[in-house]
Amino acid sequence: MILVRQSNPERLLLLLSGEHPTIPYSEVCAVLQTEGVEFHQVSRHDQVLIIDTEGGAGEAVKGRAAYVMEGGRFILRSEPSELVFERCCGGADWSFLEGRSFGVKVTRVKEYWREMGTQELQGIVGEIVKGETDSRVDLEGAEVWIRGVVTDGGVFLYTLDFQTDRRAFAARRPKTRPYFHPGVLDPKLSRAFVNLSRVKRGEVFLDPFCGTGGFLIEGALVGCRVCGMDLDMRMVPGARRNLRHYGLEADLIHGDARNLPLRTADGMATDPPYGRGTSTRGENVRTILSGFFREAHRVLREGGCLCTAAPIELNPSELVKRAGFKVHEEHSMRVHKSLTRSIVVAERQSR
Ligand SMILES: C[S@@+](CC[C@H](N)C(=O)[O-])C[C@H]1O[C@@H](n2cnc3c(N)ncnc32)[C@H](O)[C@@H]1O
Repeated sequence: MILVRQSNPERLLLLLSGEHPTIPYSEVCAVLQTEGVEFHQVSRHDQVLIIDTEGGAGEAVKGRAAYVMEGGRFILRSEPSELVFERCCGGADWSFLEGRSFGVKVTRVKEYWREMGTQELQGIVGEIVKGETDSRVDLEGAEVWIRGVVTDGGVFLYTLDFQTDRRAFAARRPKTRPYFHPGVLDPKLSRAFVNLSRVKRGEVFLDPFCGTGGFLIEGALVGCRVCGMDLDMRMVPGARRNLRHYGLEADLIHGDARNLPLRTADGMATDPPYGRGTSTRGENVRTILSGFFREAHRVLREGGCLCTAAPIELNPSELVKRAGFKVHEEHSMRVHKSLTRSIVVAERQSR
């Protein structure tokens, strides 16, 4: 994966959402690469990613990522044993507190080390830090929050340096927009699609099956110039209304994604129809996808990425490869009993 430079790295712990087993990790890496933050992955655990970086990672992630909850400077990792945990806390360097007041909060991922209470762990940290430093506990107005997370691989402590705005995503729920149509992905997943396309601020982002504009909203919010297209006449004014609802603008075109009236785009993320119900007007969905992927290859700049979804049985990674893309990653997501979605991230290469 990853870019390394190691003059004076800072070790960061990122606490990820458990909403999907693989996308949150990929999204963080994509965001850091897109924002030009060099980093090296130290280790990966259930909902936890530890990286070395020279700085800027927290701001980059906070500004863009949908599936990061919070993060901060890594303090220590302990095996899931009370004795070892006490020793690790006793041996850690707490001088960064510099006399400031602190609070401790430990959370647990799933059922890891269930025998040990999180409050007990908080108590151990609190007592040791008080004994080793001049800092006092202040749960109301702590100047520094020490966070802990129990997951596979043990207990990890870090300082809480940033939290992402989870409420902002919730506030953009599709049903709260002026124009709604079923089949819209939620804003966090839409943002992750945009991030996986690795499109940068100021670049041109295209969603050729834009529907009500969910991906365009997320693309515009990260600072892209956004362009959307849909075959359904109703979607163009509908998506425009939705973007304006958030004070955003987009170029919107009525037309077929297999015939894009565009010279070039820097990144694309899209959720084409799945061939269920009336979504394809009777056309074979594999034919639509193959035609679209060829057109996406023509329009995307070399090195630009496409993030697309399709029912897993259509084998979309094979279809994008045939169109001249190099597949970077594929994630599977169960939607319901008869639909598993495959999410493919692919880079345009010259044929
Ligand atoms: C799953 S929905 C996309 C939902 C979208 N992400 C949103 O935020 O509302 C798929 C969209 O593709 C459109 N569509 C179907 N065939 C198309 C084609 N050949 N070219 C462009 N759009 C098409 C449908 O009208 C529908 O709005």
